[in-house]
Amino acid sequence: MLKISIISVFPVLHKPFLEMSLIARSIQEKKVQCQSFAYSDFCEPGERIDVSIAGHGPGMVIKPEVVARTIEHVEQLHGPSYRIFFSPQGKLLTQDLLRQLASFSLNQDESDTDESKKLDNSNLDDRQKYISKHILLICSRYEGMDVRVEEHYADMLLSVGDYVLMGGEAAANLFLEGFLRLLPGVVGNADSVAEESFEEGLLDYPSYALPTVWQGYQMPEVIRSGNHKALQEWRSSAALRKTMLFRFDLIKKLGLEKKHRKEALSKIPSHYIVLMHSDVIIKNGDVGNTSVGSFNLHDICRSARTYGIKQVFIVTPLEDQHRIIQTFLDFWHGKSGKEYNSQRADAISLLKIVRSFDEVKKIISDDEGQNPLLLTTSAKTYDNVPAIDYQSQNIVWQLEKPILLIFGTGQGLASYIMDQSDFILKPIYGLTDYNHLSVRSAIAIILDRWLGF
Ligand SMILES: C[S@@+](CC[C@H](N)C(=O)[O-])C[C@H]1O[C@@H](n2cnc3c(N)ncnc32)[C@H](O)[C@@H]1O
Repeated sequence: MLKISIISVFPVLHKPFLEMSLIARSIQEKKVQCQSFAYSDFCEPGERIDVSIAGHGPGMVIKPEVVARTIEHVEQLHGPSYRIFFSPQGKLLTQDLLRQLASFSLNQDESDTDESKKLDNSNLDDRQKYISKHILLICSRYEGMDVRVEEHYADMLLSVGDYVLMGGEAAANLFLEGFLRLLPGVVGNADSVAEESFEEGLLDYPSYALPTVWQGYQMPEVIRSGNHKALQEWRSSAALRKTMLFRFDLIKKLGLEKKHRKEALSKIPSHYIVLMHSDVIIKNGDVGNTSVGSFNLHDICRSARTYGIKQVFIVTPLEDQHRIIQTFLDFWHGKSGKEYNSQRADAISLLKIVRSFDEVKKIISDDEGQNPLLLTTSAKTYDNVPAIDYQSQNIVWQLEKPILLIFGTGQGLASYIMDQSDFILKPIYGLTDYNHLSVRSAIAIILDRWLGF
């Protein structure tokens, strides 16, 4: 039976938690054994468990010798353990990590020499064999631990989120809530553990209960249709939509299988790009036109095609530029272009040359039935328009309007184009002060940050 020991300043915070519901039942049924320990029980008479941090500065840390004594005692009692220290500076707790730890706990029998059964997990060191025997959860308080205790004892530093709690007790309880439900038999119906948020890299599908109408909100028809196939399809489509619209960061982190990509794209508003060769600032600070480069056309279209952009507009009022680009388009739209390189022709089919910014907006609103949301970009900050970062797609996507990403040439877009925008994407920075990306590089980076994974 797996043993779990918890060491903390306030074990009383684990007691009611271990005595409730499924955790209590799994302890009663001897699927797992849990015991909590107080640091204070391992202090000498009159000894405090904490001490001021060394050097200048406020705060207390738990004395290293008290932690050491407690760990040594618990391990003498229950055997060597896999030691998890809770810290906001640790590895972030995710469903994936819980799954990995739970699989180790199940698969890793010391007598089992079948290497193929052992998971490839560089995060877990050679002490991982203890995960199936005894897990020790070590909670701190105050300013935390003397770092040397963690260096000496910790197999893993674990954070339950990017925020700071007053102590690790709630973090340990939270870990147990996530971990124990993955052990066989703890949750009655194994399917309800498998069909959850994050299990397939997506959020869970929406759940409903009777009545079919509650406070005016209707339950989708398909749920009561009795058609299991249709229900499955509806659920996976709803899960994908929810993840795309509310947690695109999950898709960015976990990726998306090829078979889901086209459908995922259909869950978010259409995206368009415009590259402005008019209404831009030119050398002497005046507003004017710039000329079109053919490398840009190729590269921007290929990026746009990769990230699912519906159309790429080039704006220039100059007739000679139109003639040059039309020759380019005639080649790539024609038979010879397609035969020469069909994938390139495919990308370039997104390209449209127009004479003004207003024309771009009109084409999109005719096509989509509503005006596009204008999302501008700049190498500089611009205070007149609300700035948005690359984690905030959801704010824009939930408005359910087509999106026009606006890129300038020359020395940037004229202020009257910027001022029309609904949002501006924050400038892109590397770890230097150099801030002069070519527009085609900027487009590729921005598309990747906005729509890529
Ligand atoms: C106030 S915190 C110490 C914070 C520490 N000085 C820092 O800034 O990184 C006290 C203890 O609460 C626990 N704790 C706080 N936030 C946590 C988190 N996000 N994940 C895991 N444990 C946390 C840890 O045991 C930590 O040592």
